Formats: sequence, structure tokens, C-alpha cells
Amino acid sequence: MRMACEECRCSAEITQDKWEKLDEIIAKYKGRPGALIQVLHEAQELIGYLPREAQVRVAEGLDIPLSEVYSVVTFYALFSLKPKGRHQINVCKGTACYVRGADRILEKLEDTLGITEGDTTSDGRFSIEVVRCMGACGLGPVIRVDDDIYARLKPDRVPEILKKYD
Ligand code: FES
Repeated sequence: MRMACEECRCSAEITQDKWEKLDEIIAKYKGRPGALIQVLHEAQELIGYLPREAQVRVAEGLDIPLSEVYSVVTFYALFSLKPKGRHQINVCKGTACYVRGADRILEKLEDTLGITEGDTTSDGRFSIEVVRCMGACGLGPVIRVDDDIYARLKPDRVPEILKKYD
């Protein structure tokens, strides 16, 4: 089933199978303390992000207002309203990385990929997120692509790093 998502103007692709699984997740947590966070967490794992249709289903399933679901989704950074790319790029802009040129790394990534932080490339290959400190401050500037850490990075290395990811 293909549905247009009004919230992010994307085209959310949620199969019938995923709708059924989402209903099972809702049923599993309904009535328990902290149900909303648990359901949203598992829903995002299932779908990859939290499009409006999924938020509506969660609100109806848990018998709570959609506004409550939306405020939780937008409050916690771990929840996403937009689809993520196949590869997640995290750019550290904590203080140590910032003073060592994290901005230039981010700029190079944005120029190379043609997107800005928080966005996903149109081919769905990469998403860029800015994070605060990855615990490797002595090695800054640092980025992480999926599970790979790149330390003491120079902007010139960015294109060759991106080539490693299909
Ligand atoms: S500030 Fe970047 S790893 Fe700590």
C-alpha cells in the first residue's frame, strides 16, 4: 500500500504486513506504563521512521490524542519524521571537534551530497545528522558513517570515504 504522507511530503511505503505488525506492537503495549515511547520505538524500527499515518495509527490504537504522539515524536531526537538513508552519517559538532574544523567537514559533506544536515539524498543513499560528542574528542574532527568512525578528518577525504558506501 502506497500512501502520501502530508507531514513530510514524502511518499510513505508501508506494506500491509507492516501495518499488521504495527497493530501487534500497539496491542502488546496498550495499557502499560510508558506504552507510547515503547510503541514509537518499535514502530520506527519496523518502518524506519515515523510518518504521519503511523502516528495516527498509534494514537488511535492507544486511545490518545494525535497531538500527544506528535509532541513525543518531535521532542526526542531519536525519533524521525523523515525517512533515513541507507547510510547514516553523524557529524560531531561537540566543542573539541568544532574547534578542529567540524564545520568544514559538514560543509564538504553537504556540498558533495547536495543536502543539508537533517536531510536524506534523493536516491536514499545517505542521511546527515549533527551530533554532540562521540566520546573521541582527542581524535577530532570525527564523523561516523554507520558503524565506521573516521577521525582527524580533513575535508579532502570526504569524497573517497563516501565512495565506500553503495
Ligand atoms: S567533541 Fe567530537 S568526539 Fe567529543
